Parts: sequence; structure tokens; C-alpha cells
Amino acid sequence: MTIAVHTLETAAEAAPGPEPRVIRVALAGFGTVGGALVGLLRDREDAIARTHGIRFELVSILVRDPERSRPYPVPGDLLTSDVEAFLAADAHAIVEVLGGLEPAGRIAIAALGRGRTFVTANKALIAKHGPELAAAASGHGGRLLYEAAVAGGVPIIRALRDALPETGVQGIRGILNGTTNYILTRLSDGATFDQALAEARKEGYAESDSSRDLDGRDTEDKIRILAWLAFGADPGVFRVHRRGLTRHADRIAADADAFGGVARLVGECLALDGGLVAAVEPVIVSPGSSLARTLGADNFIEVETTYNGTLGFSGPGAGGGPTASAILSDLIRHVPHPPAPENTPMAVADGRELAWVVSIRSAGAVVSLRDLLMAEGVDPVLEMDDGCAGILRVRTAPCHRSRIKAVERALEGASLEPVVTRFESGGFSSA
Ligand SMILES: NC(=O)c1ccc[n+]([C@@H]2O[C@H](COP(=O)([O-])OP(=O)(O)OC[C@H]3O[C@@H](n4cnc5c(N)ncnc54)[C@H](OP(=O)(O)O)[C@@H]3O)[C@@H](O)[C@H]2O)c1
Repeated sequence: MTIAVHTLETAAEAAPGPEPRVIRVALAGFGTVGGALVGLLRDREDAIARTHGIRFELVSILVRDPERSRPYPVPGDLLTSDVEAFLAADAHAIVEVLGGLEPAGRIAIAALGRGRTFVTANKALIAKHGPELAAAASGHGGRLLYEAAVAGGVPIIRALRDALPETGVQGIRGILNGTTNYILTRLSDGATFDQALAEARKEGYAESDSSRDLDGRDTEDKIRILAWLAFGADPGVFRVHRRGLTRHADRIAADADAFGGVARLVGECLALDGGLVAAVEPVIVSPGSSLARTLGADNFIEVETTYNGTLGFSGPGAGGGPTASAILSDLIRHVPHPPAPENTPMAVADGRELAWVVSIRSAGAVVSLRDLLMAEGVDPVLEMDDGCAGILRVRTAPCHRSRIKAVERALEGASLEPVVTRFESGGFSSA
């Protein structure tokens, strides 16, 4: 069989016009991450076509056991356990989520050597062979993308590669392993080590070989990748001081507690004394710190720079969904930006019900803030009268923005110097 070699650009040229361009994807691995990616491609198919003008088509899936039943059923003829047959599939992009060095390395070299896009979540592969694969990519017009290999859904690779090179990165440190952070969080809640590890496995956070999570090798791989990007250090060569949690997680958590702190497994790499210092080890951190406040399988990364201060990145660091979304963003990112879709969304009225804090100068006020709020259909929840400062504050129940605007206008009309601030007790759009 002849292998048709396409780059994504040739695919784009071949299929102009309003129809979405078809990008053929071969997927190596159909476990936690591979399964989540198939689900995501299915769920987001129409949205991706609308906003990016592309449609991903799976052309082959490599697994160990093609007969096993899968949470996301696919046509049986897509599945193969034969690496050569998988490599022969006519794909524009190859996604590798097998884990381990082989056959992942062979697939990477074959894909990049043919000028394809190779997207991977495999930190062990990039930590050991990153420069070699990058050279294969640039030598043959392929692309090597590995956002999902570090910190799951947190876009730290893109930040280091595209946004931060000119900021003078001095050091990177953070929580880079969801399994150990999940275990340390659950130990603080009173769970036993075995319970916490079993839960992490059940949630899909733990690697199939969880010893790599526990002894810090997984975090070490990620620190090597980050140091490669930030400082140009060959990831396979420099020394990383490593102490993991193995056998001691309970004690580490108890020691931290005894000293009023919180235990976290921290990876770091720093430019120091003209060289590089890298470590992975448990650290007792202050309870109010960002590291301590990173809970469960979340990751947190701090990048210290010379010209741009210290930047923090946080979010889900493991699990099929976040990792698959990082892979999908690499796949989409590779495709040249399409023209804006015809049905570009327009701004609409904000229909959300949000809570607010309204404060006024109370001295000399002749209207009751409470009455005024209620007259506009806004329920006051908590009132605080700061008599000394002459300020009266009310927190409201959630209401439409238009109602609070009406309150604000009325208070301005009464010369009460209103200040209106949105009050969030939860996430992005919550009241
Ligand atoms: N899980 C996470 O939260 C997470 C987060 C970030 C990055 N990652 C990385 O993503 C990669 C995949 O992780 P995962 O959790 O999805 O692993 P997984 O659940 O163990 O799935 C591995 C998949 O690869 C297939 N496979 C493994 N070795 C193979 C071989 N030699 N030949 C053919 N097929 C093979 C397996 O086939 P069968 O299904 O037939 O056994 C399975 O479908 C790893 O590099 C991991 O470090 C994972």
C-alpha cells in the first residue's frame, strides 16, 4: 500500500469553500485519555466545524486488544493492534496516548519523518526524546505538539513557548501531579493512603503504573520538559533531585499538620548561579499559599520572570477530559486560522441573576436603601452599617443586571454616591 503524505496545509488547499475541511486523525491509544478524546471529538463536532471550519475524521485506532469492549464504541474496522497497519493509515495528524517509550517513540519518528503532525500526552517520551523529535519535526516539515504532556488541561506549554520567552524566566515551580495532590488532599480530610490511591485510580487520575506518580518520576518528567522549554536544557541530561511520597505519604502529611502547614509534592527548576537547579520533593507550605489551596487533582504552576513578575497557572492537571481537551486544542491550533463563521454570535442581554454589594454614603440620607432595593425588586440579604465611616452596605440576593442598574440610577438621583460591586460566592457565572 502506498502512503499518501499530506500536511495539514495541503489538506486545507485541497478542500476550499464553505464545507469544513476534513482532517484525518490516527489515534494511538484508546484508554482513559484516548476514550475521552473520541467522546470530545464527537460532542464538539458541530461546534468545531462552525468555529474552526474543520471536521476531524478518525481513520485508525491502535490498541493492545481490539476485541475489548470500549466506553465509546467505534466501528470495529478502525481498531488495530498492528503498529505497521496503524502507521499505514492515511492521516494528517497522529495522536499518541499509549504511554511508555515504545512503540510510542517509533510512531513519533515515523509520523514526524513523513511531515505529519504528532500530538502526544506522553511526558516520558518528551522528557527523554523531546529534542530528537523536535529535530525530526523541523527536518521534515512535521509538527510536534505536547500541551497535554504537562499539567493536563493547563496551557503551560503554550505559555512558555509562545508568550513568555521574552520575559526572562527565572524559575518554575508547582504541583504537577494530580494523583499525589489528590492523595495529599484526601489524607488531610482523614482518608487512609490506600483509600486515597484507590479513589485516584477510579477517577482516572493515576498512571497505569502509579509508582511513577508516587515516587515523583512523573513530576520529574514534567520538570524536565518545562526546563527544556524555559532554559533550553536538554531534558534527558540534567540532574533532578527527587524524593517522592512512596511509603511516607501519611507521615509527611502528619508532619506538615504538626507544624501548622500543608504538604505538597513540588517540582521546581530555577536558573541559579549561572546554572540550573531542579528538584521534585514534598514541601510543607503555608496554609494560605496558592500551593496549599491547590486541592484534589488540580495543578498549580508559578513562573517567576525578570520583566513580567510572577505568573500563576492553575487548573485540572489530570483525568481524561482535561487531557483530551489539551490534545484537541493542539489539533485545532495546527490548522491555519479559518475565516470567521457566518453566524458570528452577537452580544445579547445578560440574562444571568447575579448578587451585588451596594454601598452608599449614609450621612444625611433621606431614603432607605433597603426600601429602594425592594422597590426595584431586589432582595437585600445582609446589611452592614459602618457608622464611623458613614457608609451603609447591603449585599443583595441574585437579580438581573437591569434591576441593579435601576437601583444605581435611583441612588445617583438621590446624590448618595452609590458604589455597586458584583459579589461572587462561586465560579465564573455564579452569584
Ligand atoms: N490519565 C491521565 O489523566 C493522563 C493525564 C495526562 C497525560 N496522560 C498520558 O496519556 C497517555 C495515556 O494515558 P492513559 O491514562 O489514557 O493510559 P491508559 O488508560 O492505560 O490507555 C493506554 C491505551 O494505549 C493502548 N496501548 C498501550 N500500550 C500499547 C501497545 N504496546 N500497543 C498497542 N496499544 C497499546 C491500550 O490498549 P488497550 O486499551 O487495548 O489496553 C490503551 O488503549 C500516557 O502517556 C499518560 O502519561 C494521562
